[in-house]
Amino acid sequence: MSDPKQTDGPTHLHEERTFPPSEEFAAAANGTAELFEHAAADREGFWAEQARRYVTWEQDFDQVLDWSDAPFSKWFVGGTLNACVNAVDRHVEAGNGDRVAIHFVGEPGDTRDITYAELHQQVQRAANALADLGVGQGDTVAIYLPMIPEAVVAMLACARLGAPHSVVFGGFSAEALHSRIDDVGATLVITSDGGWRRGKHSALKPAVDAALAVGDTDVQNVLVVRRTGQDVEWTDGRDVWWDDALAAAAESHEAQAFDAEHPLFILYTSGTTGKPKGIFHATGGYLVQTAYTSSVVHDVHPETDVYWCTADIGWVTGHSYIVYGPMTLGATQVMYEGTPDTPHQGRFWEIVQDKKVSILYTAPTAIRTFMKWGREIPEKFDLSSLRLLGSVGEPINPEAWMWYREVIGGDRCPIVDTWWQTETGGIMISPLPGVTPTRPGSAQHAIPGISAAVVDDVGQPVEKGSAGYLVLTEPWPAMLRGIWGDPDRYKETYWSRFENLYFAGDGAKLDEDGNIWVLGRVDDVMNVSGHRMSTAEIESALVSHPKVAEAAVVGAADETTGQAICAFVILRSEFVEEADEVGEGENLIAELRNHVAKEIGPIAKPRQIMIVPELPKTRSGKIMRRLLKDVAENREVGDVTTLADSSVMTMISAGLNKGD
Ligand code: PRX
Repeated sequence: MSDPKQTDGPTHLHEERTFPPSEEFAAAANGTAELFEHAAADREGFWAEQARRYVTWEQDFDQVLDWSDAPFSKWFVGGTLNACVNAVDRHVEAGNGDRVAIHFVGEPGDTRDITYAELHQQVQRAANALADLGVGQGDTVAIYLPMIPEAVVAMLACARLGAPHSVVFGGFSAEALHSRIDDVGATLVITSDGGWRRGKHSALKPAVDAALAVGDTDVQNVLVVRRTGQDVEWTDGRDVWWDDALAAAAESHEAQAFDAEHPLFILYTSGTTGKPKGIFHATGGYLVQTAYTSSVVHDVHPETDVYWCTADIGWVTGHSYIVYGPMTLGATQVMYEGTPDTPHQGRFWEIVQDKKVSILYTAPTAIRTFMKWGREIPEKFDLSSLRLLGSVGEPINPEAWMWYREVIGGDRCPIVDTWWQTETGGIMISPLPGVTPTRPGSAQHAIPGISAAVVDDVGQPVEKGSAGYLVLTEPWPAMLRGIWGDPDRYKETYWSRFENLYFAGDGAKLDEDGNIWVLGRVDDVMNVSGHRMSTAEIESALVSHPKVAEAAVVGAADETTGQAICAFVILRSEFVEEADEVGEGENLIAELRNHVAKEIGPIAKPRQIMIVPELPKTRSGKIMRRLLKDVAENREVGDVTTLADSSVMTMISAGLNKGD
């Protein structure tokens, strides 16, 4: 594990600018200073109050937290609820059925407005269709869909039945999909013929067919949404069209309430070892915290706001802040299928203008891309509907923060830089927009009800002005309940580094005012465009190629994507000469990049692959990534005294310069 002081991150931490909220914003904000006092005085009482405020329980809970089997937690013990009823039915019952739930914007320009009443009809039919295919409480369902409303309907229909869903991002390959379907034991896969991407059809069903052709799964059926109309291969008896299944299903579905601890979903994320971890979340605590944070951090006022979270449903941000948080509040939101530059670089701003978006939640990598494209583009659109901006996924550098504030937010919108993880389920560290004077580049402080600290090597809080490890010091409602099927790995990964503290894997610094600055990962996890990528997973994909003997992967600083994947590869000796031939080295590198895309997905393709004769290792055989990072970032190579063979770095540099 590296020293937190050596991680990438904001370059100047002596930022003194602060931006208090306007009086008008503060007066109407959901998050107030009293929340901090209440939570500090009575944590459990505080969470009980949020649980009853934001969620409708079929049966009320009788204990807020059971921590007797720590680090395994139970929240809202004895309570029962249905997540789908909370996100949909009760808004219709409350007379808000005509409110738009989703303004869908397809990439080719097609749009659909879906009200809560329509969503209610669809989730009932979908739940019945799933039940007709044999899905019941406790069965797991894999979802592999583009950003279309059916993805939301599918997730909510699973929740309605008590069938945990496992959404797999559409950019993952057939191999990655297979391992997730297999690990989670899914009996049904919901997919589509394809989706729209940069003006073209991109296919999804072939990846499902290929994943299932590998065998070894419990999948009985594949439900296929028609999105693009492209031809698909069909397996009779297994494949069913979504539209046909819904049309044949009964109209109404009576939802049953489940225990607060019933698993709601499993979502795979990269860790420090090769195998992705299935993070699983329970229904009650997760719903409470996502709804509470949508209210106090995103300041959603469901009657008046138009909210837009630009994340994909395949990541936790899409789960918590497209589906469960905002919908539990009954919000109106935009859902966009495509990329920000299709058909032009102003597409996002055109959507903000057309739909009168008031709250925008996006990632620093997108903001840096917009900066690169130039302020003239957003300046062509009317962005005056915006009143709050959010950032998530990676540290936001103060320059990007200021640009976001000035150019997008017209100097008037508070920015919430929200730190959290797949594992935390909901936002943990963030300014409260109506209370906290914001500071460019810093996520600032734990929100009311959450306790975070920055500690040194032995778990003691660091002084102001110092760096250390980011930890969470108390359990929280939306915390992961474990790693699917592997309780020991849960304890080992998060609870073994420091006693009784959850170790998030991030380095952080406290500034002189006590604000938290998240510096980035201190383990072998990279953050590429806000997506977590494991160096070990990409290394193992590379060495599975027959020409590769050894591989080391590092995340190198990248102006736009935060980090970029750089791989160093040693070839098997019989292929070394081939790679030296003119042009062949480049072909081989392309072959290896495509191999990684096939094994994991296009998102994992290394930006750069360097073929090297050796890798720098310590005497105990550990690869010294720090030195490789120096090479990848074009820096002078640092201290090499602990290398087993100090000439290795000279060999690497000489090899790399050969072509110059
Ligand atoms: O390193 C932190 C970074 O993203 C990691 C969590 O990744 P994931 O589980 O994919 O969830 C991403 C969306 C919540 C964290 O360990 N991270 C997330 N938000 C921030 C951040 N780093 C700095 N500032 C943030 N606001």
